[in-house]
Amino acid sequence: MTDVAAAFDRGAASYDLLVSLNPGYHRHLRSAAAVLARLTRSRPRPVRLLDLACGSGASTRALLDACAEAGHGVVDDRDVDGPAPRTTEIVGVDLSEGMLARAQSKTWPAGVEFRRGRVGELDLDELGERAWSGALACYLVRNIPSDQRDAALLEVRRLLEPGGRLVIQEYSVAGNLAARLVWDVVSWSVIIPLGALVDRNPGLYRYLWRSVRRFDSPAELVRRLAAAGFTDIRHRTVPGWQRGILHTFVARNPAR
Ligand SMILES: C[S@@+](CC[C@H](N)C(=O)[O-])C[C@H]1O[C@@H](n2cnc3c(N)ncnc32)[C@H](O)[C@@H]1O
Repeated sequence: MTDVAAAFDRGAASYDLLVSLNPGYHRHLRSAAAVLARLTRSRPRPVRLLDLACGSGASTRALLDACAEAGHGVVDDRDVDGPAPRTTEIVGVDLSEGMLARAQSKTWPAGVEFRRGRVGELDLDELGERAWSGALACYLVRNIPSDQRDAALLEVRRLLEPGGRLVIQEYSVAGNLAARLVWDVVSWSVIIPLGALVDRNPGLYRYLWRSVRRFDSPAELVRRLAAAGFTDIRHRTVPGWQRGILHTFVARNPAR
């Protein structure tokens, strides 16, 4: 698939329905978002967070809820009289206009906004270099061509303030035969047929299968994060049927 934005534009209308059929999808988003919310809770106010590849806003919602639960104090100024102090701001960024339109059509409190942008070619002056306390990137990195991934991760690090955190959620089966086998079986027996039935868009879901098979191993992604200058890199897989397939990575922009 050469045009990822066009594929997601086409899949945008059915995206929320299809991911809701994946047991654990929202739970795993919430768990990745909770890690970022916890790690950024004590950053100086306002805490400014990016949701990179925010898509239809599912990960943005998870991040918003996680921030509220972690005590960030996300303000919904529909509930207050007069100007309210915003202690957390979240900006969702995505390259697909269709996915962004879905995100924007939902109800959000003040302090949450969305912008179009391609990670790897972001305008750092506009977004603000070293301006962000943290970034969440769920199902982004695999969609960046492998020869552009190192530069994209470096770009993300440059957006983070010293000590800022990056949390990545991503599928990775390279180097794990059992995980590859489960991924193949689930893709061809459930995900691709459902994509064809619900979305009439099997191409996007064949792309999902193929891109996961071709993606870096967890160790390779850790190497890339370190090469981009991140420190304190940790990763773990999720429980449930996606054990060994879906992973959460945490990394830190060193304080310098
Ligand atoms: C599988 S969706 C995930 C959306 C959301 N993060 C979630 O978890 O529900 C992947 C998203 O990545 C976006 N995307 C792919 N490559 C991108 C890039 N280089 N920069 C920004 N967004 C990108 C696509 O447009 C799509 O909306």
